[in-house]
Formats: sequence, structure tokens, C-alpha cells
Amino acid sequence: MTIRVPLREQRDASYDIAIGPGLLAELPALLRRHCPAAAYAVISDSHVAKLYGDEVVKRVAGAGYRAELFTFPAGEWNKTRETWASLSDRMLAAHVGRDGAVVALGGGVVGDVAGFLAATYLRGVPHVQVPTSLLAMIDSSIGGKTGVDVPAGKNLLGAFHQPRLVVADLNFLTSLPPVQVSAGLAEAVKHGVIAAAEYFAFLERDYVAILGKHGAALERVVRGSVEIKAAIVSEDERESGRRAILNFGHTIGHAIEAVAKYEALHGEAVGIGMAYEARLAEALGIAAKGSAERITRLLERFRLPLERPHGASVDDLIAVMRGDKKARGGEIRFALPKAVGVMHGDKKSGWTVGVADERIAKVLAG
Ligand SMILES: NC(=O)c1ccc[n+]([C@@H]2O[C@H](COP(=O)([O-])OP(=O)(O)OC[C@H]3O[C@@H](n4cnc5c(N)ncnc54)[C@H](O)[C@@H]3O)[C@@H](O)[C@H]2O)c1
Ligand SMILES: [Zn+2]
Repeated sequence: MTIRVPLREQRDASYDIAIGPGLLAELPALLRRHCPAAAYAVISDSHVAKLYGDEVVKRVAGAGYRAELFTFPAGEWNKTRETWASLSDRMLAAHVGRDGAVVALGGGVVGDVAGFLAATYLRGVPHVQVPTSLLAMIDSSIGGKTGVDVPAGKNLLGAFHQPRLVVADLNFLTSLPPVQVSAGLAEAVKHGVIAAAEYFAFLERDYVAILGKHGAALERVVRGSVEIKAAIVSEDERESGRRAILNFGHTIGHAIEAVAKYEALHGEAVGIGMAYEARLAEALGIAAKGSAERITRLLERFRLPLERPHGASVDDLIAVMRGDKKARGGEIRFALPKAVGVMHGDKKSGWTVGVADERIAKVLAG
């Protein structure tokens, strides 16, 4: 199955997302068609490289291409400038030229670092995303946002760099640990809330099969989420408008990640963020009564935590949100739902709402 991401601003940068079990076998042919290059630098983290690194390099090399694996230690704490610098140096030492390309093989951390590497290497080389985590398949590999974390916050250095192709081989998910499946599902819940009530209802109905990684259920999750994310990013490539709704759960989620350093996975932090932000939306009279309860219940079914970690005090969270790039003109801004499937806002007044600190503090204090 293929889903196209048509880009309005630069039509020739439009790309395909291929989804299906066993797609890895077709990787060489897909690279030839969508991203021809003299050499492929396959970027991966230590976990994924151990499981699939050799297989990917062998397949690409077996088809007659130059392919080399470059890895870094797994973990969000390695999504840094240092990792980017080390990978750049190693690629230069291996003489990967301007006719080379990057293949990002891994979860969202690999995708973000490798995408940023591709955006900057020799002023930019093409790249292909081969997501291996559920979160990367349904969210981070799509949309062209790349970057690294810095001490001041998450994703503060980066670039928009659209992939030439995304290859989501569902077979990768067989080795994905259950907590990582749950973390990915947080972004699926987000997609349902922001744009698709039927998709949300499917997640509610089929959660047992999804958690059990049943093939058809997982495929429907990936397809459903990809369709939603692709539609949103294609109409607003550089986040000047409606794309902001993808940040539901992320204002508080990113603050949790920053304050309680690595206590929560990104997906977990987003789940917690959605639970609070949904309650905030109700408290402000923006969301219909019962919306927060319904969202929270689904997060619970997916075994996601709902409370802020002990290390994250209300004051610290608000302080971080104040310094966040999404805070403009004084008040902290949120993308909030009106109901499951519909976000608050419009073209004219924008897609985010400024909220006074005291209101946020009250909801965070519970
Ligand atoms: N660019 C974007 O638009 C965007 C969107 C959402 C999230 N993100 C970023 O994505 C990151 C989170 O991504 P993530 O949740 O994939 O984290 P991750 O990349 O750290 O992967 C999670 C863990 O699972 C392992 N793993 C990945 N695939 C596996 C597989 N098939 N089998 C076994 N283990 C596997 C990884 O090695 C890692 O230990 C965050 O840094 C977040 O900021 C970016
Ligand atoms: Zn996210």
C-alpha cells in the first residue's frame, strides 16, 4: 500500500509512504526508483543496528550499490549535536560524496538525527526514512521535521528536510518491546483526537488486537495514522497554520520530557500531556464534557501513564513551557480539542489558544 504526501509549496518534493509487511525485500528497488545515489549511508542506533543493520546493508549492497552502516548508542539522550557531529565526521572519513544519500533505519531518534544529518551533510543530500518503531512509522518519519535536542530544550536545532520516500515494513514491529508499542499508540490516539473520530473509535474497539500486534489491526493503525498525518503536513509544510494541531499533548509533553529528563518516553510524555491538555480544554469550556474522560480511558487501555512524573513539579513545568518556542506574546499556547475528532480553531484566529498560567497550574495540580 502506498500513501502519497503531496506538497503544495514544492510539488517536486512530494513523496510516497510505502506500508506493508516484508517491504525490506523491495528496498533496493525502491531506492533505485525514489532515491538513486552512488552510495547509501545507513544510519541506525545500537539496538536496531544489531537486529537489522547487517540485513539492510547486505540487501542494498547485494543489489550492486555501495552501502555502509553508521551507528550510535540508542536512547533519546543521544539525539544530540555530538551524535550529529560524530556521524558527519565518520561519513566524511568514509568519503561519502554529494552523490550519496542517507537511509534512516530506526525509531524517531534515528529519523530525526539522520534527517538532520542529511539536511546538513555537504549542504544537503537526499534521504529515505525506514522507520522501525511504531511511533516512527505513524508520526516522526512523515513531515520532514528533523533535528536534535539541546540543553535548552527538545528539537531546538534542526531543519525541514523532506524524505524522498518512507518505507514502513510492518515486520519490524515484531521485535518492538510492548512499552514502545504503547508509546507509539499515544501518537495514534492524538491523530484520532485531532482529526478522525472514526479512527479513534476503531482504536477503542480493537485495542486488544492492537496491543497483541495482530497483523491486520497494526496495519490499520499505521495506515490510519499515516493518512491523517500526511494530509495535515501536506497542506502546511512548514507549520505556519493548521499543522499546529499536531502539537496536541506536546506543550505539556515536551515540558515533562525537559523537566523529568528521560523518566518518560516521548510517547508516554505526550500521553500524559494529552490527559492534562484535554482536561484543560474542558475547564476552559472549549471541549465538550466527557471528551477528556474518553481520551484518558483510551490512553489507559493502551497502558500509558496519565500522571506527571514525581520529578516534574507544576512550577518547573510552567517555567519550561514559558521558555518553549511555542510560547508567544506572553501566554503559553495550546492546541486543544473541541471534541474527539475536531480541534478548536480556524484559519482566521489560528489553531492555538493562549492560556493564563494559573489555569494551567490548576489542571496540572489535579
Ligand atoms: N520529526 C517529527 O516530526 C517527530 C514526531 C514525533 C516524535 N519525534 C521524535 O521521535 C523520538 C521518539 O521516537 P521513538 O519513540 O521511535 O524512540 P526511539 O527512536 O528511541 O526508539 C525507541 C526504542 O526502540 C528501539 N527500537 C526501534 N525500533 C525497534 C524494533 N523494530 N525492534 C526493537 N527495538 C526497536 C530503539 O532502539 C529505541 O531503544 C523523539 O525524539 C521525538 O521527539 C519526532
Ligand atoms: Zn510526538
